[in-house]
Amino acid sequence: MSRNADELVDLIREKTGSAKVRYGLILGSGLGHLADAINGVSVDYADLPGFPHAGVSGHNPRLVIGDLEGVRVAVFGGRAHYYEKGRADAMRLPLEVLAGLGAEAMIATNAAGSLREDMPPGSLMMLNDHINFSGMNPLIGEPTDARFVSMVDAYDRDLRNALLTAAGEENEILDEGIYAWYSGPSFETPAEINAIRILGADAVGMSTVPEVILARFLGLKVAAISIVTNMAAGMSDETISHEHTKEMAPIGAAKLEKVLRAFLRTR
Ligand code: HPA
Repeated sequence: MSRNADELVDLIREKTGSAKVRYGLILGSGLGHLADAINGVSVDYADLPGFPHAGVSGHNPRLVIGDLEGVRVAVFGGRAHYYEKGRADAMRLPLEVLAGLGAEAMIATNAAGSLREDMPPGSLMMLNDHINFSGMNPLIGEPTDARFVSMVDAYDRDLRNALLTAAGEENEILDEGIYAWYSGPSFETPAEINAIRILGADAVGMSTVPEVILARFLGLKVAAISIVTNMAAGMSDETISHEHTKEMAPIGAAKLEKVLRAFLRTR
């Protein structure tokens, strides 16, 4: 862990107490309000030197540490994306802090476009693998041999099974599929969507993959769930826009909150 992360862990512990955090939740576009569901202590990213600034509307740039269903969680109300500054490692410091707080796993959420007719807007898709279609990697420049991270079973099987069980208990459909990372910020062309469909993608988005790579590098287990906000480019007449993403995300977010709460009750 970098010195900066160590210092931030101390600073955060001073404010939130030293109880060990078990899970980190990273909230995607339009999901930032989930941070408000936590009964805990909130620290603005602006007060955490090196944390990303509020770059994208629909995010809620603060770290909230507290109990959700009796389990200590750290909720990251906003994330930094590669497309903001061209840095794939933009989330490295927050994830180092999460690891430093003692967390066992990162649970990432995002808004995504669906490539499957049977996963319309409002659906939830848990990632069981990904395709890094951006060519970028957050570990470029990392000098140690630890950079050669295996990405086999990056999405932890036990966590996935527990999340599927939780969804079943809540009568919510939780699909599983492969998420393709495009850099953004422009949306994809219909031809690009056709290309990744042939390659096996079920959903597409502009985040999460660099965080998953970093989390595995840091020894955190990983789970990730997409909220489908739209059909991918060329698949419907609906206009794809960030406004639309923010409008649609709350529909899936309500389901996701139920699933996450049911999951945490079993931990
Ligand atoms: N493409 C990329 N990112 C997205 C999409 C999409 O269709 N929807 C929400 N985030």
